[in-house]
Amino acid sequence: MASRRNFIKVASLASVGAFASSSCKTENPTKTKSQGKAVKPIVISTWKNGINANKKAWEILSNSGRALDAVEQGVMVVEADPNDMSVGYGGRPDRDGFVTLDASIMDETGNAGSVCALQHIMHPISVARKVMEVTPHVMLAGDGALQFALEKGFEKMNLLTEKAKKEWEEWKKTSKYEPVINIENHDTIGMLAIDSNGNISGSCTTSGLAYKMHGRVGDSPIIGAGMFVDNEVGGAVATGMGELVMKTLGSFLVVELMRQGRTPQEAVEEAILRIVKKIPDYKKFQIGYLALDKNGNVGAYSLHKGFNYAKYAENKSALIDADYYLKG
Ligand code: GLY
Repeated sequence: MASRRNFIKVASLASVGAFASSSCKTENPTKTKSQGKAVKPIVISTWKNGINANKKAWEILSNSGRALDAVEQGVMVVEADPNDMSVGYGGRPDRDGFVTLDASIMDETGNAGSVCALQHIMHPISVARKVMEVTPHVMLAGDGALQFALEKGFEKMNLLTEKAKKEWEEWKKTSKYEPVINIENHDTIGMLAIDSNGNISGSCTTSGLAYKMHGRVGDSPIIGAGMFVDNEVGGAVATGMGELVMKTLGSFLVVELMRQGRTPQEAVEEAILRIVKKIPDYKKFQIGYLALDKNGNVGAYSLHKGFNYAKYAENKSALIDADYYLKG
């Protein structure tokens, strides 16, 4: 087993390595209708794995469904996919071999729910929604979250696939990680949607950092870190090394900057700059932010090259490369 120092170094390199690189162009978001009036539905989500998730979400949005249902059912597609090794079933385990999941969800009323370090449940996002809807709490953790999920009828299952187990067993031999650029082109899924009533909701779900310390919780289930929405303003989600997002409360920061008049693009760039200013070793990590304002304008920005996001609006699906900070 790696020493703690080695583990942390390995983890940070792994984080950078898990982010892919490709040709990069920034989208110029076009404005939709002004705030307060009916807006066209839109859904955006982090990474290429968001394409299929958005497709499901769009089915709901295009049938006048609620944004909350769209962001839940959208990310469930990725949670159930064993080939996606950063979310749900098939996710890479922690360094002791346990698949532990984090997820959060927020609706247009500002209601929020989350779970962290949840094991054995394929759809942590749905457990998070139940926490939001049927308990007086926001977050349930570990065994308590599992107990709650089982009480609510969720099925207990083994989330560690043979592929993930094999990779983990390989990793254990040296407990080292050689960073490989373009290893997967995704990490976590965060989703934001606006429905035909102009209401916004958000979701975020992940198996977290591969081979993390047992008990480590990332940004994804922390309301305001990995995800935040405010129906007066818009929403934001984060992906990448959660510790940096937690230290700067990134998604809340993005939404508050938009409240003060910044565009989504200006807001996500400022949130990345905050990390650059406050966290000395920021270059070792990747962070990506995605934001959506209530007019349907999108912002996306990351520390390193390689972050992209999926967008579904006006019956069209697209994958768009984000602009990034570390150039040259
Ligand atoms: N952003 C996912 C994590 O750090 O767990």
